Amino acid sequence: MARSGERYTPHSRRDSSAHDSSYRSSAHMNVSMNANTGSSHSSTPRFSTTRGEASYAGSTRKSSASKNPYLQAQRSNNNARRERVGFVTADKGFVSAKRPMPGGKKPKRGMTRRDFIVLGGLAAVAAALPIGWNIFRPVEVVINGARRTYTVHTSLGDIISKEKIKTTAGNLTSVSGKVITEGKGFAYSVKVDDKDLSFDDGNNYKIHGGETITVGNGADIMEEYTVEMTETQPKLITDGSWGAVTYVSQWGKVEKKEIRTGKTSGETADGEVKQKGQDCVLKTRNLQPKDGKKLISITFDDGPSVYTERYLKILKDHGAVATFFNLGQNVDEMPEISKKIVADGHEIMSHTYHHDVLTKDSAERVQSELDSSYESIKKATGVETTMIRPPYGAFTSKTWAVTQGKMSASILWNQDSLDWSRPGVDKIVANAINGIQPGYIILMHDGGGPREQDLEALPQILDKLHDQGYTFVTVTDLMKADGNVPEDILTGKAKMPEDAVWPTELG
Ligand code: NI
Repeated sequence: MARSGERYTPHSRRDSSAHDSSYRSSAHMNVSMNANTGSSHSSTPRFSTTRGEASYAGSTRKSSASKNPYLQAQRSNNNARRERVGFVTADKGFVSAKRPMPGGKKPKRGMTRRDFIVLGGLAAVAAALPIGWNIFRPVEVVINGARRTYTVHTSLGDIISKEKIKTTAGNLTSVSGKVITEGKGFAYSVKVDDKDLSFDDGNNYKIHGGETITVGNGADIMEEYTVEMTETQPKLITDGSWGAVTYVSQWGKVEKKEIRTGKTSGETADGEVKQKGQDCVLKTRNLQPKDGKKLISITFDDGPSVYTERYLKILKDHGAVATFFNLGQNVDEMPEISKKIVADGHEIMSHTYHHDVLTKDSAERVQSELDSSYESIKKATGVETTMIRPPYGAFTSKTWAVTQGKMSASILWNQDSLDWSRPGVDKIVANAINGIQPGYIILMHDGGGPREQDLEALPQILDKLHDQGYTFVTVTDLMKADGNVPEDILTGKAKMPEDAVWPTELG
């Protein structure tokens, strides 16, 4: 409080007059106010507060002060000269204070003018604290390992220049990262509490206190460049080469990426990836029910046919459910049978429309075989499916590549009953059962030729496997029990998402 200190000095007439008058009388208070208002370092409101308190302290002596003949004489002076009078009284006032007061009274020893000023100064500090402390309070930060104190909200840019931290500036680089001009990059880099800031953010950062700041070498600045967007198509990737089921475990997405051409260097380089791409992945594997549950699926191809209803009766009698891979052309001929399959709680999927060897079909034919069979099944039963069993099990990744995303899964089998060759009932039963494991899929037929052997074999297969503790579930329920098949595939009618594309190229 240099200003208060100044007021101790008798030679500082202006200030001492302020003090003296407030001590003496309210009349002189006016004088001193005027004097101070006119001065170059005239008081802020804070200063007035100080004086106000001092004069309050002095008011106990007002009566004696008013009896001061000297002051009374001064008071009778011309008002226009008050200001100058104030200066005059200043010195005298100080002198007179050292003498006994008129009327024999002395100021209390415990309260000198000096005390008033000190008290006043403290009061000023107290009054200023709530605002001043927040704006100007010093805080500590750790900058490159050293503890430093700065006023709160000082910018890091100011601190870095004051601390004279030596850093190496980055370079101006080409789009491919080659140095064009050394030292033309950013002057330094800033990290606040392990968070890297951009150059501007770091430079403008205002400290709160308590931060750990790391100032390091500057980053490079890349030359100006022009941008072209490129698109990369996804590829078709096969994951696993052997197994009863193949399904889309990931849909393909186009990658959209910038290609930058440097205005200075003329170089081209990959830029920002605007849309992350991904390949389409086909997963081929056997299903394995969680916790070793003894679940299996029995499946029937080439229907519906004149035999199908007898299959449905046997299944009902044994409390078993199955999955039927219907041919679109048969569904169109006997829609009521397909409808009954679904009504009995079985699952229906596509076996194409014409029973083509799809691997020998054109892309258009493959697609129409799928679309038309899906449509027939939907029309007859209301069921939407995108799962098929390819005729003869003939389906390669090349065939997948021409499906345009119309298929979500290809379902083959683990146990081939070879019933189509009519090897005899016992052989069909043995082929269906021998070596069976939880999660397996059994292949039989309910169409495509005489099915009497099947109809005799089926009850035995159901009984024997039931005796072994197996439960028959649909293919999609077997997939659910497996726990590794994506949700959309489990619906049985998964369609390619709108933001996906079907790859035509194998990965
Ligand atoms: Ni078939």
